[in-house]
Amino acid sequence: MTKNIPVSVLVVGAGARGTVYSQYALENPDEVNIVAVCEPRENYRTKFVESHNITPENVYSDWREVLDKGKIADAVYICIQDDYHAEPCIKFAKLKYSILLEKPMAVTERECEEIVQAVKENDVIFGVCHVLRYTQYTRSLKKILASGAIGEIMNIQHLEPVGYWHHAHSFVRGNWRRDDEVAFMLMAKSCHDIDWLCHVMDKKIKAVSSFGGLSHFKAENKPDGASDNCFTCDVEETCPYSAQKIYFGDAENRRKCPPHFLDVISHYSDDELRLKDVKNGPYARCVYACDNNVVDQQVVNLMFEGGATATHTMMAFTEYCDRKTRIFGTHGRIEGDGEYIKVYDFLTDTETVHNVAAYDVMASMKGHGGGDYFLIQNFTAAVANRDQSMILTGPDQSLETHKAVFAAEEARLSMQVKMID
Ligand SMILES: NC(=O)c1ccc[n+]([C@@H]2O[C@H](COP(=O)([O-])OP(=O)(O)OC[C@H]3O[C@@H](n4cnc5c(N)ncnc54)[C@H](O)[C@@H]3O)[C@@H](O)[C@H]2O)c1
Repeated sequence: MTKNIPVSVLVVGAGARGTVYSQYALENPDEVNIVAVCEPRENYRTKFVESHNITPENVYSDWREVLDKGKIADAVYICIQDDYHAEPCIKFAKLKYSILLEKPMAVTERECEEIVQAVKENDVIFGVCHVLRYTQYTRSLKKILASGAIGEIMNIQHLEPVGYWHHAHSFVRGNWRRDDEVAFMLMAKSCHDIDWLCHVMDKKIKAVSSFGGLSHFKAENKPDGASDNCFTCDVEETCPYSAQKIYFGDAENRRKCPPHFLDVISHYSDDELRLKDVKNGPYARCVYACDNNVVDQQVVNLMFEGGATATHTMMAFTEYCDRKTRIFGTHGRIEGDGEYIKVYDFLTDTETVHNVAAYDVMASMKGHGGGDYFLIQNFTAAVANRDQSMILTGPDQSLETHKAVFAAEEARLSMQVKMID
């Protein structure tokens, strides 16, 4: 990193993601300085302002309030909910901010196209937070593939194990439970995976089909004797989805639910206060008595240019763990799980195991296999040097893979194969 540092940043949305990305500035003040924030929730705003020592004139409760001020920072991180991305993104592009936009870009194809048009017309540095492309694991995998170790890729099998309690937290009780309020599951969760498959295959998707649905988390599967709230439920002890167990269980249970999930259910860090906050709120609801409608299992079949294929499986009913992938090539196969890459060579019938887990990133940014950290590092360097090529997830790549996600969801709903131009 050489020029124009530290990069100054305005954060729009100091929730879970805005807070994580901004951690980078705390440990790298010579590279990034968080100078302003827009956040409507007072408790979260105050905590964020204190962490980054933001001056009062740069604290806002809504991103719209900042527009009249012109450009007050080099870059903006847009970290608000899925369905609110397009409008601020286009407006900040017009003000010539460099933009880091949370995935999904937007929840309609048209909005995604409008975003790309705005960032191109205004010639701004732009990245979408497809963090999986930035991990050490993915970079190592790409190098192994480029070395020809398994020949030409014929097929990829990819599993996204969402995890039973994580699915209950985010997609049954939480923010992403309804496709008419935020986004459909494939866009909200698996747009990362479709994007990653394109990146690994390094080819364009030509056709998609998809099946899946909401199979389990609905009223008809509610156990006999269960109440609508985990804190008043007689059969709570027999339920793996119990909010008591997930958020307030013993140490073993707690270990499964990382602290940043607890920050989502309540801004209190004290257990007693948090319990009061959660007990009658949305995160205490029985998973069979929520207003969720997004799918809990889905498969997507992809055909790439040249005929190679891939399958993606999104699955709620797993333990909480890293994605698992098998890549079948003409000269070998790879198995990867975010930690190890196992390369089997057909010529020698031997397997080489690469341990790629040891990445050297700050503790608070180890999320997504270090992808959060390297995303911010790359984005910062791109802004400092005004060099879009440092971003792996620019407007064109991101639009292409978002279009495949929209097509896959259309395919699922219509039970048809969809072609992609
Ligand atoms: N890249 C990833 O791996 C990843 C992971 C999880 C979530 N996400 C995405 O990140 C985005 C944010 O998710 P999150 O989990 O941080 O949600 P969150 O609800 O924790 O944070 C969003 C914040 O935006 C604030 N907000 C709402 N309206 C606002 C406005 N008008 N102006 C300013 N702030 C406003 C909310 O108060 C909230 O604090 C979503 O689009 C989500 O899909 C990405």
